[in-house]
Amino acid sequence: MNVPIDRKSPVPLARQIQAQLERLIREGVLAPGLKLPASRDLARTLGVNRATVVLAYEELVAAGWARSHVGQGTFVLESVRPRVSAAAPVAPARTSRDGNGHGPAHAPINWAAFFSRSARIVESEAERRRALTPSISAEAGMISFAGGMPDSGLFPTDAFRRVLNDVVRDEGETLLQYYPVAGYPPLRRYLATYLLRFGLEVRPDDILIVNGSQQGFDLIARTFLDPGDAVAIEQPTYPRAMQVFRAFGAQLLGVPWTPVGPDVEALEGLLARRSPKLLYCQPTCHNPTGLTMSPETADRLLATAGRHQVPVIEDGFDASLYYGTRPPGPLKARDREGVVVYIGTFSKILFPGLRLGWLVAPPPVIERLAAAKQLADLHTSALLQAAVHRFCERRLLERHAARAAREYARRRTLLLESLRRRLSDDVTWTEPQGGFSMLLTLPDGMSANVLLTRALQRGVAFAPGAPFFLDGAGERTLRLSFSSVPSTRIDEGVRRLAEAIKDTRRQPRARSAERVTVPLV
Ligand SMILES: Cc1ncc(COP(=O)(O)O)c(C=O)c1O
Repeated sequence: MNVPIDRKSPVPLARQIQAQLERLIREGVLAPGLKLPASRDLARTLGVNRATVVLAYEELVAAGWARSHVGQGTFVLESVRPRVSAAAPVAPARTSRDGNGHGPAHAPINWAAFFSRSARIVESEAERRRALTPSISAEAGMISFAGGMPDSGLFPTDAFRRVLNDVVRDEGETLLQYYPVAGYPPLRRYLATYLLRFGLEVRPDDILIVNGSQQGFDLIARTFLDPGDAVAIEQPTYPRAMQVFRAFGAQLLGVPWTPVGPDVEALEGLLARRSPKLLYCQPTCHNPTGLTMSPETADRLLATAGRHQVPVIEDGFDASLYYGTRPPGPLKARDREGVVVYIGTFSKILFPGLRLGWLVAPPPVIERLAAAKQLADLHTSALLQAAVHRFCERRLLERHAARAAREYARRRTLLLESLRRRLSDDVTWTEPQGGFSMLLTLPDGMSANVLLTRALQRGVAFAPGAPFFLDGAGERTLRLSFSSVPSTRIDEGVRRLAEAIKDTRRQPRARSAERVTVPLV
């Protein structure tokens, strides 16, 4: 640690050091609970006497900014609340208060005036989302159907730690170096055979490893979209995909989702009037409905896209998490027209925290996507790619995915049974064939946001449906995710939800829910 001191100043050095540390604590640079450097080390760095630093630390403790423990050191007090000013960040403030008398020469810079158009779109999207979606705090005892993510209680963490150790030991020197953007070749080869089991024939060279599907959306948007372009997108759909396309200045055109996939006639009509650059869809285990596109719809959709020459972006939820009898193949496996770019991810079948996914596209497209990725982040962690490859090679993925799918299927069945038993006929829901969630529709006139207030009071949470729709539709809908709720809690969660619906019938208006953050995954 270094702090500015002025040896010519009449202010004693210990006082200067104390004032600088106090400022860094006040501004949150030195976080609550942080251990300050040993007095000997700081004295050496600053070129002062150790006694000077000891004195500065004692003053800091006496002034209530730090605490010291004999034999352990001096720590920033946990209860300090840093004061961070957006307009005047840390650096300019330093000169004004360092005792040297040099204040900033100009008014603080107005950062907002410099934000790009894209950054401004992202912010207004976030504002719109905040308005549409009350936030949810995870209180003790709360049963949350809100987060559409895998259950971390099922994670094969120990097995992953072992493969991680093994690859560091065996290939550490290569894996910790910069790495080619396309990805770890053995993983790409593995993926080519893995995808074959779902009927998708691809060469390893047609695969680009990315940091999760989310980076896939970003690279696709960068590669295909100019501001003002249109993107056709299923309604409802995954909000973060909509956000990315919008951030690149695209206009979104909704295609209604039916129980067997997007409404192809509506798509035809749309393509006759408009020329979207892309069509984004989730044919398998669609988030939020959990439904899957029928083979007939898939063929019609591909024929339509081929006829109108519209690339289709397939956000592929892994069919390993399909709970019906015959898992559907990816759309790309039926793609004779060669219009589909496929996005896959390890987030659902393994760990979302890996940030590991892949894109499959024809050679000229994969080259452009790889160039965009190189600009963005050079490459995805080779270490994690190799660890996942080792994990898969040892057939641990298959074992884990089968176990997880059994458990999620059980939770899904329990949820469906409980909903049937406890909810009245004017509440309807989709019957998910896979994935993590379902979409529920409330009776006429009932708002999911109002219901959320009541539900939180009853100790149950869900994600309101509006963010999954364009422009505020879906107010009567909500998403229930069953993947992270232990089977022993599902029926109790539905009981609370049913009570909250009764409360809302009695009192259909309410203040909007207290602040909670609903994870939009
Ligand atoms: C439909 C859909 N696509 C993409 C993602 C993001 O996945 P990833 O973690 O691979 O970025 C999610 C996350 O829940 C999702 O539901």
